[in-house]
Amino acid sequence: METKILSTNDEDIALAGEILANGGLVAFPTETVYGLGANALNEEAVKNIYKAKGRPSDNPLIVHIAYKEDIVPLVKEVTPKAQALIDAFFPGPLTIILPKSDLIGKVVSGGLDTVAVRMPINEVANKVIKAAGCPIAAPSANTSGLPSPTRAKYVIDDMTGKIEAIIDGGDCEFGVESTVITLATDTPTVLRPGAITKEMLESVIGKVEVANAVLHGMKDNETAASPGMKYKHYAPKARVVIVDADRKTYEEFVNNQKGAFALCFDEDEVSVPRVNYGSENDDLSQARELFDALRRLDEMGAKTVYARIPRTTGVAMAVYNRLIRAAAFTVIDLTKPFTLGLTGQSGSGKSYICKKLKERGFNIIDCDEVVKNIYDTNEALVKSLCNEFGDITTDGKIDRKKLGNIVFNDKSKLERLNGLVHPAVIDRCVSLSKLPSVLDAPQLFEAGAQDKCFKTIAVLADEKTRLERITKRDNISQEQAKNRLSSQFSEDYFKSHCDFVIYNNDDNDIDREIDDILHSLGF
Ligand code: TXA
Ligand code: MG
Repeated sequence: METKILSTNDEDIALAGEILANGGLVAFPTETVYGLGANALNEEAVKNIYKAKGRPSDNPLIVHIAYKEDIVPLVKEVTPKAQALIDAFFPGPLTIILPKSDLIGKVVSGGLDTVAVRMPINEVANKVIKAAGCPIAAPSANTSGLPSPTRAKYVIDDMTGKIEAIIDGGDCEFGVESTVITLATDTPTVLRPGAITKEMLESVIGKVEVANAVLHGMKDNETAASPGMKYKHYAPKARVVIVDADRKTYEEFVNNQKGAFALCFDEDEVSVPRVNYGSENDDLSQARELFDALRRLDEMGAKTVYARIPRTTGVAMAVYNRLIRAAAFTVIDLTKPFTLGLTGQSGSGKSYICKKLKERGFNIIDCDEVVKNIYDTNEALVKSLCNEFGDITTDGKIDRKKLGNIVFNDKSKLERLNGLVHPAVIDRCVSLSKLPSVLDAPQLFEAGAQDKCFKTIAVLADEKTRLERITKRDNISQEQAKNRLSSQFSEDYFKSHCDFVIYNNDDNDIDREIDDILHSLGF
C-alpha cells in the first residue's frame, strides 16, 4: 500500500477525514503522541489498526472525540465524577474509562465491557476528528512494543506501507501518552500516569488510587486492570537498565562501564556516548524527550544503556512508568552499598577473578591488605588488643610475632582476637567501598561480612587443581597444602551460602561465567 504523507493544511485534513470516514487508517499528531486512527464505529476498519501495529487483539483502543458531549452515546452513563473530570480536563491529555454503550463494538473494546474516551487538545487532531465526522479509535502510532512516536519521522519509520496516510504535524507537546483513569471501579484508579497527575485529578474528584502495576509491574498471577499493562512496552532494541543513584554516583558508575551508553539528564557529566532525556528538575522536559531518546539510542546502535532514574511523583511518575518498562524492570540500586563479596577456598583463583572484575569496572577491595594495615591505622583497635592480651607492642606498634605467639595454639584467644579485628576490618572495607565494589574476602563468612554485601560469589575449583596451585604459589609441600585446605569451609558450604558460584578450573569459560552473573545483576 502507498502511504500518503499529508501536511496540516485544510485540504489535507479534509482528505484525511475522507479516508477515515471510508474505513481507512490515518496517523495524526496529538498533544501526547501520534495516534493511528480509524472510524471507531467501523469494526472492520478498527481490525486493521491491530494488524498494522501487530497489536494483541485483547488490548483495547482509546476512542477520540472532538466535542465534550460526544462521549454521551459511547458510554452507559456520564457519572458526576466523569462530568467533573470532563469539565476540568477535556480537551487535554486525559482518558476516562466508563462502562460502554452498545455502540462500542468488541474489537475497539478488546472484549471488555468498558470503553476509554479522550478528547485531544491538539488542533490538528481536533480538526481531523471533526473532518471524519465520527469518533476515532486511535492507539499510539508505533509498531506494538516499540516506543510511542513523538515525531512524524518515527511514524513514517513504523507505518509506511501499512496505512493510507500520515499527517506530519511536527513534534508532540507532552511526549508521553495520556493519563488513563478508570471510573468503572469503586475508587477511581489511574491505570497509566501521564501529564494530568494524580494530584490534579484528586483536586477535582477526591480520592484517586494508582494501580500497583504503574510503578511495580505485574506479578505473574495478577490480572491486568488495563490490558496494556501486561505487554512489553516502549522497548528499544538496546538493553536498558535503570541506575538508582544521585548524580555523582551515577556519573562515576556509568563512566566505568566500557561500551555502555548513558540515557541521562542534560546536566549529567558523562564520558561515555550519551543521549539526554530532559533536565533533572523539569519533569515535563523528560516526558517530552524520553521516547525520542529511546529511539535515538537504537539509531546509534547502543547495546547496553544505563538510564539515570527519574522521580516517581507528579508528571515524572509517567516518565518512570515508561522507562521502567523499557528497562524490563531491571534496576541497579546504588543508593545502598553495591558490594559483591567474593570468597572461596585457597587456590580457587579468587585473585584471577578479581582481575577480571577489575577489567569490567569494579573497584577491588583486598581484605588481606586491609588486615595487614589495620594495626597501623586503627589506634582504637590497638588499645583494645593491649587491654585484652597485655603489652604486645614494639616501638608503639603491634608486634605481629608477639601477638601470634599468644593466640597460636589457643583457640579461644584466637577467637577473641578475630572478634576484635574483624569488625574493624569490615568497617575499613565499607569505608573503602566505591561503586560498584568487590570485596575480595577469603574469610567473608568467618568475619560475618556477608551481611554488608549486596550479593556473594563463591569461587570454586577441584581439589586437585587447588592443591597444585597452592603448592606452586606458596612453595609448600602437598602435605602442608592439604592441611591448610582441611581447615576451610567445604564446597557445599559455599554453594549453599553464596548467591552465585564461579567454577574456576583451568578449562572453564570464566569470562562467560562472570558475564552471566553480572548480566543477571543488570550489568
Ligand atoms: O495519549 C494517548 O492516549 C495516545 C494518543 C494517540 O491519544 N493513545 C494511546 O493509546 O496511548 P494506546 O492504545 O497506545 O494505549 C491505550 C491504553 C492501553 O494500555 C490500553 O490497554 C488501555 O489504554 N485501555 C484502553 N481501553 C481500556 C479499557 N476499556 N480498560 C482498561 N484499559 C484500557
Ligand atoms: Mg501504545
